[in-house]
Amino acid sequence: MQLGLKSLFIITLLLPILIACKSDKKQFIIGVSQCSQDEWRNKMNIEMQHESLLHPEAKLIIKSVSDDTEKQIQDIEQFISDSVDLLIVTPNKAAPLTPVIEKAFKAGIPVVLVDRKILSDNYTAFVGADNYEIGQEVGNYIVSVLKEKGNVAEIEGLDGSTSALERHQGFFSVISKYPNINLVYREDAAWLKDVGETKMTQALSKNIQIDVVYAQNDRMAKGAYHAAQQIGLEDKIKFIGIDGLAEPDEGIDMVLSGKLEATFLYPTGGDKAVQAAMNILQNRPFEKNTILHTALIDKSNAKIIKLQTSEITSLQKKMDSMNKQIDNYLDKYALQRNILYLICSVVVLTVLLLVWIFVSYRAKNRLNRELSKRNAEINNQNEILQQQKSQLIHLSEKLEEATHVKLVFFTNISHEFRTPLTLIAGPLETLLSDSEITPEQKRLLSLMRRNVNILLNLIDQIIEFRRIENGKHSLKIGKHNLVEYFLDWNMSFAEVAHKKGVEFKYENDYSDYLMDVDLEKMERIYLNLLSNAIKYTPKGGYIHIYLNKEQKDNIPHMHLRVANQGKALTEEQIHNIFERFYKVDSHVAGAGIGLALTKAFVDMHGGTITTESKDNEVLFSVYIPFYNQTEAGINTNNTTVLRPSFIGQDYFSDQSMRHTEMSENKIKILVVDDNQDVRNYLHTILSSHYDIVEAEDGEVGFYKAINQPIDIVVSDVIMPKIDGIALCQKLKEDPTTCHIPVILLTASSQDEERIKGFESGADAYIAKPFNPNMLVIRVRKILENRQKLVTHFNQHLTLSDVEPNIEILVNPMDEKLITKFNTHIYENITNSNLNVEDIGRELGFSRAQLYRKLKAITNQSPNELIRNIRLRFSQELLKQQRTITEIAYESGFTSVSYYSKCYKDHFKETPSDFQNRYLRN
Ligand code: FRU
Repeated sequence: MQLGLKSLFIITLLLPILIACKSDKKQFIIGVSQCSQDEWRNKMNIEMQHESLLHPEAKLIIKSVSDDTEKQIQDIEQFISDSVDLLIVTPNKAAPLTPVIEKAFKAGIPVVLVDRKILSDNYTAFVGADNYEIGQEVGNYIVSVLKEKGNVAEIEGLDGSTSALERHQGFFSVISKYPNINLVYREDAAWLKDVGETKMTQALSKNIQIDVVYAQNDRMAKGAYHAAQQIGLEDKIKFIGIDGLAEPDEGIDMVLSGKLEATFLYPTGGDKAVQAAMNILQNRPFEKNTILHTALIDKSNAKIIKLQTSEITSLQKKMDSMNKQIDNYLDKYALQRNILYLICSVVVLTVLLLVWIFVSYRAKNRLNRELSKRNAEINNQNEILQQQKSQLIHLSEKLEEATHVKLVFFTNISHEFRTPLTLIAGPLETLLSDSEITPEQKRLLSLMRRNVNILLNLIDQIIEFRRIENGKHSLKIGKHNLVEYFLDWNMSFAEVAHKKGVEFKYENDYSDYLMDVDLEKMERIYLNLLSNAIKYTPKGGYIHIYLNKEQKDNIPHMHLRVANQGKALTEEQIHNIFERFYKVDSHVAGAGIGLALTKAFVDMHGGTITTESKDNEVLFSVYIPFYNQTEAGINTNNTTVLRPSFIGQDYFSDQSMRHTEMSENKIKILVVDDNQDVRNYLHTILSSHYDIVEAEDGEVGFYKAINQPIDIVVSDVIMPKIDGIALCQKLKEDPTTCHIPVILLTASSQDEERIKGFESGADAYIAKPFNPNMLVIRVRKILENRQKLVTHFNQHLTLSDVEPNIEILVNPMDEKLITKFNTHIYENITNSNLNVEDIGRELGFSRAQLYRKLKAITNQSPNELIRNIRLRFSQELLKQQRTITEIAYESGFTSVSYYSKCYKDHFKETPSDFQNRYLRN
């Protein structure tokens, strides 16, 4: 449809052009070659043009030369090469023009000769008067005028032109018959007036008697007349011409004015020539020779002819103007016709356009309707998709939230589980370390301990997973030879496998496995994979482990493969296996967190873990880079307490670690914990060795530490009022308590972080659940170190320069206190009445506080310390040969005997014995 409209549209556009083309018939080009440019030729040209107006299918191209034969040949050649349809030629000279006219004729161009001829018959038609006959008529007229006697001068036309030759021949054929008529002068004047005048002048100058001048045309006659007139002979000679043009001052006027005796009409015949041409061109019959008639014009008829001619001329002019008007009308008609065509075209075009617009509009509407329909459908689908997406997002958020809540819940529960589990694990350890239990009891207790450890392990995993989620888990990278550890871990595992009747095979290549890893996490990765494998391997099945070194991404990797026989996993199971809380088999025990944690640890090491399953086998494939490249791989030498692994052994069950003897001066331990059960449990653990003072929070704890001689504090961290960290800080900042060692019991790794953050100055911290023996050892170790410090002091009477084997930090405040105390005693050494109260005041302590303080750090009372300083001072004096009495008083002793007793008690020899021994050496 659209194509049809387009074609119609184009046709409409071209319509006016097509119509215009249709009205134009084939144009005939007629080349006209004129030999001269004069009035006679001009008349002929006008006649031809008038005639051509009647033949609109023909077009005339007129080329005129001024009697120039060569030029005329060139013009004809040009017409030939322009392939005109017909040639009308008046040859200037016959001979030179014959070849070119023959050429045109032979080339198939019809040739119409006018007025003059060529020397050949190779032309199509001739139109013109019979010049021979005109010559004869002129001859006869002259014979009559001269009454057969007289002299005639002939002024001829162009030599070589047929008209000139024939006019002479006709003339001469007549006058030659009259012997008394003499042709006295004959000259060629080339059809031109001036030349005619010149020739006439020449003739007259020769004194030739001339009665009649025969000029072959009126122009030359006029020249001859003028020549005669010059010498006043114009009336004596009769002038006769040819042409008889009616235009002013031409032949007829000259007859009327008496200049010419007569002239002979020589018809131009331009109209006839065109008529002949059109007949030829339109293949109509035509005359080969169209001979035009001549007539004598003398005084008798000149006027009438002139009048008739004028009439014809004016008619001609009217016709011309009418023609012009017709042309105008035709032009207007053509213009109006074209405008009409154009309007028609525009109307048709507009109609077509309207039709096209209408059709397009309908098509567009139809398309729009379809599009809107589709859009509506798409929008509908989009909306549904959007709704589904929002639902999915909502669901996934809910799921994420639920998982998060689950994890937070588990984490909280896990923290809550720790204390009770500690209270189970601790007494269990105590019971197990009792040598008097029966083997059956030991077996049952071991079973309990194993299960407690499993629970603790699960709790640990949840807490660790939460830490990873919170981004708080960092790697503790160290260089470890993993193969050794794998073998070690295999030992505990192989036994479990054996018990379950599972074949356990482990193979590794002989590569060096010294790797940058977090050993604790590697243990988790390995044992979780093994634990997972054993869970899903049926009795009688196998677990195969392969370890080899491989290049992956051009980096050396450890490649661990753990394969176990078991039900093949589905695609979905493989896809979800590392998701937290995802369980392949809901009937198998476990929280679904072990593999998620394993993957998290592998990821932390910059490694990869994948699962494959086929033909009743499940394979876990782990790649860990040899050299750590993760940002998390910070080599932290922190003091995180390693918890025994869940497939662990019995730790610290050595009975010898127990204190069996109860000392007189029992060491006092302040136990601070808000949980009564924990306090009771700590009491159970420690009371066999030490005196226990209990406090339910930090505030009470601090109060008791200030007011009682406390040797060591064991405190929980999370407590109401003052927590463990603040309590520790307070104790360490108070001069009266700053010497008391503090052990903090941390319930979670979070506590460790906080303790580190606060730099509370704790001497140790132990993670819950703790092994009771470990706590006892820790307390004992700290007390031993304190004892070493006391020994150091007793030897040196100073807390400075403590030996490195004493792993205790001496509080600077204590060091300062001792220095001050010593200085005060030395400065007042001779004063036997030195008062402890005064010294205490001097140092900012009460008597009791000073006593407790000095007793704690030196194991001596203030008085004992003063006495020892005096004795040490006296010893220096003994080295100087002074008398014992002198020395005793100078050292602040009130009597020599008391001094001697004290000296002997302290140094295990008398002062004089020391002096004698010293001086002897
Ligand atoms: C015009 C003309 C006439 C004459 C004729 C002869 O060019 O000279 O005057 O009659 O030619 O061919």
